[in-house]
Amino acid sequence: MSEAILVTGGAGYIGSHTVRQLARLGRKVVVLDSLVYGHRDAIVDPSVDFVEGEVGDRALLQALFEKHRFGAVIHFAAFTYVGESVTDPLKYYRNNTAEPLTLLEVMRDSGCKAFVFSSTCATYGVPDAIPITESNRQQPINPYGRSKLMMEWILKDCDTAWGLKSVCLRYFNASGSSADGLIGEDHNPETHLIPRVLMALTGEITHLEVFGTDYETPDGTCIRDYIHVEDLADAHGRAVDHLLSGGASLQCNLGTGVGVSVKEIIDAAQEVTGLEVPVKYGPRREGDPPRLVADPSLAAGVLGWTAAHKDVRDMLRPAWAWMTGPRKGRYANTPGSAP
Ligand SMILES: NC(=O)c1ccc[n+]([C@@H]2O[C@H](COP(=O)([O-])OP(=O)(O)OC[C@H]3O[C@@H](n4cnc5c(N)ncnc54)[C@H](O)[C@@H]3O)[C@@H](O)[C@H]2O)c1
Repeated sequence: MSEAILVTGGAGYIGSHTVRQLARLGRKVVVLDSLVYGHRDAIVDPSVDFVEGEVGDRALLQALFEKHRFGAVIHFAAFTYVGESVTDPLKYYRNNTAEPLTLLEVMRDSGCKAFVFSSTCATYGVPDAIPITESNRQQPINPYGRSKLMMEWILKDCDTAWGLKSVCLRYFNASGSSADGLIGEDHNPETHLIPRVLMALTGEITHLEVFGTDYETPDGTCIRDYIHVEDLADAHGRAVDHLLSGGASLQCNLGTGVGVSVKEIIDAAQEVTGLEVPVKYGPRREGDPPRLVADPSLAAGVLGWTAAHKDVRDMLRPAWAWMTGPRKGRYANTPGSAP
């Protein structure tokens, strides 16, 4: 029996899909989530232990590490609202950078030396070149991105000092849901494009706002790299295997390498649902780079990972099934409040 994996933030969007996949593979998983934004109902596999608590709670972590001999930690827990990070940066540096220091200290003291970290393409800021390789300069343009980049630096220093091996996975735009529509994306407030397009179709919001139509892109709207949440989940399992088999620390992109514009997402959503998206086109929003597209070749070479879903319609279909399924895109206990 393999050692247990601690998953922080495992009741959140990407975490819950990863937890489900790990459990299906027979891995023993313990989720630690404060439920500040997560959902208890998103943990659907009965083999998973759920613990409600904070990443910065030293006594709780010590008790967990004593009880389970964790072979690895996957750290999703973080605040993720870029706009709020600008108005309340200390909240982000506290939760995303300072609180995990306690987790790392407890790992060091208990001899656990494998850490998979949810990093982000936001650490690149406005990229020098497209597609973005890992050697692109990391110059984040908001506190959220900086809170994540600092974690990458901290993890490198821990490797030098006490041999912590880490994989920093720089996700591009997570999207989609589980194929069976049982779990999905439920953020409150929701700021991501695909769920907002679908919310405009269900009437949960009156219309979709598009920020900027005059970018230097073929149709004038911003281009992003949308990566299916189940492909992200798969990469986390591979990252754990890489570390547990003695692999070196790694920082790599997780994207498809395919750029899709806002207008193309709207068109694809209309094709998948047969409905017309009510749209209002407005001016640019500050801080949105025109294009963010990954070069995912490093993850392919080192982890043997490539995205199985490259067509954005394959992300829209399950997301629409989740939005229109029995849960109507919302868990029973939806926490969160507009920041
Ligand atoms: N969603 C994306 O497109 C995307 C892109 C790049 C990076 N990321 C990163 O991936 C991770 C997961 O993102 P998500 O979209 O699933 O977010 P999410 O908000 O759905 O999940 C985060 C989870 O962490 C929990 N949490 C937050 N702070 C905590 C704390 N101090 N202690 C315990 N639990 C805590 C929340 O309750 C929530 O369940 C985050 O670190 C985010 O920065 C996400």
